[in-house]
Amino acid sequence: MNLSLDQFTEIVRARRSTRHFDNQPVAPELLDKLLEAARWSPSAFNLQPTNFVVVTDQKLKEKLYPACMKQAQILEAAATVVFTGDRNVVEHHFEKTLRQDREARANNREYENLLRKNVPLSFNRGFLGIEFLLKFLIEKIGGIFTPIPKLQAVHRDYWLAKQVSIAAQTFLLAAEVAGLATCPMEGFSERAVRKALGIPKEQAVILIVPVGYADNSARTKTRLPLAELVHQNSW
Ligand SMILES: Cc1cc2nc3c(=O)[nH]c(=O)nc-3n(C[C@H](O)[C@H](O)[C@H](O)COP(=O)(O)O)c2cc1C
Repeated sequence: MNLSLDQFTEIVRARRSTRHFDNQPVAPELLDKLLEAARWSPSAFNLQPTNFVVVTDQKLKEKLYPACMKQAQILEAAATVVFTGDRNVVEHHFEKTLRQDREARANNREYENLLRKNVPLSFNRGFLGIEFLLKFLIEKIGGIFTPIPKLQAVHRDYWLAKQVSIAAQTFLLAAEVAGLATCPMEGFSERAVRKALGIPKEQAVILIVPVGYADNSARTKTRLPLAELVHQNSW
């Protein structure tokens, strides 16, 4: 790998949220490469809940447009990727990813045993959510005396938002490297997006990213100074 840290930071700095695109199409192979990069993003317990709905069909874009508050980039971008997170990912992926990691010797037996203990502990809600309530109390009361992680996995959408957003960020940066523009979007109605694209209820719609060639080259942007945001050692 010969990318320097300065070059990487420049890629992050140069990426802009683009709201106007020209009508040049994006080669499907190039789109696949961006998704391939996103696929390698990390996820908790390596459960990989992120799914990608790639919309290139103009009629479907027109259905998606009102669901996304009529933001022009949906109509203008060559493609829009809807990033979703699987609410039933444990049932769908846990055994499969454990097996894959075991076969590739990516995990040792000790780590697999740890996952077998922690994944059900994190995700189980119990009959009528009783286990959820119990965990809530343990977290609130027990947490005073000993560090206990938040109930993020039980709050499925909160947990999914983290996993899926990391994959989406990889996608944004990969697109920048490929000379493509993107716009991460949370301005949409989840229900309406699901209806427009036939996305099942078990998928949480987390982020929507139009991608294509920008029709302008305004690259200026600002960020708050690091000194206002960094807290060395303690707050
Ligand atoms: C989670 C998230 C949601 C966003 N939602 C929208 C959106 O719905 N519409 C939009 O035009 N921009 C949206 N943006 C883009 C931000 O406005 C933009 O990232 C911010 O102004 C900084 O500009 P930059 O991305 O060009 O650096 C969103 C960004 C993030 C990270």
